[in-house]
Amino acid sequence: MPVYQATASAPVNIACIKYWGKRDTKLILPTNSSLSVTLDQDNLRATTTSRADPKFEQDQLWLNGKVDEIKPGGRLATCIAEMKKLRAQVESGSPNEPKLAEFKLHISSFNNFPTAAGLASSAAGFAALVASLAALYQLPTSPSELSRIARQGSGSACRSLFGGFVAWEKGTAADGSDSLAVEVAPREHWPDIHALICVVSDDKKGTSSTTGMQRTVETSTLLEHRIKHVVPERMRAISEAIKARDFDTFARITMQDSNQFHSVALDTDPPIFYLNDVSRAIIALIIEYNRVSVEAGGKLKAAYTYDAGPNAVIYTLKENVKEIVSLIVKYFPQTDGFKDTFGLFGSTGVGEGGVV
Ligand code: DP6
Repeated sequence: MPVYQATASAPVNIACIKYWGKRDTKLILPTNSSLSVTLDQDNLRATTTSRADPKFEQDQLWLNGKVDEIKPGGRLATCIAEMKKLRAQVESGSPNEPKLAEFKLHISSFNNFPTAAGLASSAAGFAALVASLAALYQLPTSPSELSRIARQGSGSACRSLFGGFVAWEKGTAADGSDSLAVEVAPREHWPDIHALICVVSDDKKGTSSTTGMQRTVETSTLLEHRIKHVVPERMRAISEAIKARDFDTFARITMQDSNQFHSVALDTDPPIFYLNDVSRAIIALIIEYNRVSVEAGGKLKAAYTYDAGPNAVIYTLKENVKEIVSLIVKYFPQTDGFKDTFGLFGSTGVGEGGVV
């Protein structure tokens, strides 16, 4: 009896232009395009194994070793159903193929980083799930096509299907067929970029991205301005900066967009605060670090960015990593009292191939 099983890993991605708001909550269609950097596989990734077997009685998922519910009609069920649909098309075209689409699935997924740290675990998780099913079902699909399905698990997951620098184009079609991830540049294009992840707090965040962004869509007037007048130009300018390996522009836009995302969170009713005092102190440190460089006739050397939580990601060039790590360790010493609330999680390069 043959064994039908496949494993895939997908890394976390961290957005420079933030996705925040859906125009369709079921299909997960965003109100604006976004752009991110996929981190490398070594530090933060999800690894998922999927197995199809006629003896299995139901689809079942284990997350970090614990059974997790697959809610009917939920995001997970949608992704699985979409992948089975693609497999069924392959089978109907070639009658000799085993009928894998009809078998139930057992899926096991592990993160190699603390899920509670609020570090885009769902992005890596859904990308790895979709990639493992694509391998199991031997689907001839491109990463962009798979991103359309990963998007329905968690919006930001669609960007983890590629390594390097990735845009999620919001698209205009009502069925979401053109709301896809596309590669802006591969990792090899700019290998000097590094991301430093500073775990400020591993508390579970107060307001989830899913809930928070819809509250913003419903109540923020600033969001409208952001969608119409800010993001399109930033997407163009940051893509160009990446292509030109222009760190100064990349850093400026990344920090501006993080600031604006947290501004629309604050403009939400009731307001959402994701940053804490330590997050703000890190912003002050990076601003000062850049100021010293610019005043000496240099350029911006680092960019902070924050997602829906207090943890900082600092983008910088390889040559500055050591200096920034020692600054952070100096100003945010990991004393006993501090150890649990602040730690330098790791420095990581840009990811090579997205999923493997
Ligand atoms: C602030 O992708 O987690 O990290 O689509 O509802 O699952 P859902 O939201 P999610 O939102 C991520 C928001 C963000 C910005 C970003 O990654 O672009």
